[in-house]
Amino acid sequence: MANEPKMTEFLWGASTSAFQVEGAYLENGKGLSIADVRSLRAGNGVDTKLGANHYHQWREDIQLMKELGLKSYRFSINWTRIFPNGTELEPNEHGLAFYHELIDELLKNGIEPLVTIYHFDQPMGLIKAYGGWVSRKSIDDFFKYGKCLLKEFGHKVQYWLTINEQSVLAFSPDMLGVDTTQEKTKIYQQAYQANYHMWLAQAKVIALCHKMYPKAKIGPAVSYLTTLPATKSAEDMMAAKDLEDFYSFSQMQVALRGEIPKTYMKELIKAGVILETSPDDQEILKTGIANFLGINWYCTTIIKSITGEDTAKFILQRVERIKNHKLKYTDWGWNFDPVGLHYALRQIEDRFPGIPVAITECGWSQKEQIENGKIRDTDRIEYLQAHIHQMLLAKKEGVNVISFNPWSFLDVLSVGDGFEKRYGLIYVEGIGKSHGKMRRIKKDSFQFYKEMIAKNGSD
Ligand code: BG6
Repeated sequence: MANEPKMTEFLWGASTSAFQVEGAYLENGKGLSIADVRSLRAGNGVDTKLGANHYHQWREDIQLMKELGLKSYRFSINWTRIFPNGTELEPNEHGLAFYHELIDELLKNGIEPLVTIYHFDQPMGLIKAYGGWVSRKSIDDFFKYGKCLLKEFGHKVQYWLTINEQSVLAFSPDMLGVDTTQEKTKIYQQAYQANYHMWLAQAKVIALCHKMYPKAKIGPAVSYLTTLPATKSAEDMMAAKDLEDFYSFSQMQVALRGEIPKTYMKELIKAGVILETSPDDQEILKTGIANFLGINWYCTTIIKSITGEDTAKFILQRVERIKNHKLKYTDWGWNFDPVGLHYALRQIEDRFPGIPVAITECGWSQKEQIENGKIRDTDRIEYLQAHIHQMLLAKKEGVNVISFNPWSFLDVLSVGDGFEKRYGLIYVEGIGKSHGKMRRIKKDSFQFYKEMIAKNGSD
């Protein structure tokens, strides 16, 4: 298939990530990633060993995608299936074969793959060898991995997402393998040095992709924390803006402009972080500019300033998250605030006019049980309907939204909260527990989304 993006058709998709669905955590040469180790460390059976058994049931899953009418599927390649330790010179053939088969089957069924290169699963081998992303050496290992994927799959894949949610990694440094028992300043130093290395690594892969496949679309999947001030005071507005700029817009600006915002660097100074840089870095960032943006969007975050006018402290020490009791919340504290998505998309258009945007994640989590063979997930339907409506309003106003991907296609292992917290359009019976086949049951939201796709969102 030629590498020729068909930008006219809206990509109604759905999303997953490798370690959250595949299971088969050590099969066919796969190595251990930090995502595996974190989940195993919890020791409560909520781990990546079995996942949703997608590694063995992927053909059935693609048939369900087809039935749903998906135009695209956003998934990630498990770094440790390709380079089990990260340090190998040659990729693991079994890993490549798995993703070749998966991609071929998607294309055969008319489903466009949106491929994330790295979704939280850096090989433990790299973390043990030199501290993973904290070391500059990681740039070369990510580049080797990215180059391998582009060479193997670039003629079949038109949409690439480089790194999923760098800000989440920097905010939760244990996901990077950083020792979080150290004093705060040391943790910040390592987390933000790692974040800096990811920017450089990402830019190098983007530049290579443009060279190899000039028509491909490539960019980051940014966690877009849309912050709203808790009150109308200027202090709260400032705090909300500072957090949003630091957490989300800095990621977009580096990927789309090749520049690190001055306000970001000032925040690092407040955190006591001194970045180790190299003279060529600016050039690297400038030559690897993304031509496409993925955003992961779930809810708004309501922010109160706790230092008032005094902004001398690091942003994370200046804000408090507040609940808006007028809004509905999930059991895990994520609100239902769909106009926030509309507002978020307009903000992107203001800053980066015309940039193609894929909503790479958007979803509602809840505990669920089968009742009379059904899963009546009406709250999820309400969530999806409202968010799609707001997205379409933004699109009508000129925001270049090209794809919408509910999180998640089927139930996954939640990053923070195990298997009880379900997001899927498809219920996975025995997720994380059953050995062997896991039954898939279409939830009511599956039917809702199927009809929505069939009508191209027109109702
Ligand atoms: C995003 C991630 O941060 O949020 C997903 O990209 C994750 O991997 C999702 O699953 C929801 O978070 P959680 O903690 O509920 O799984």
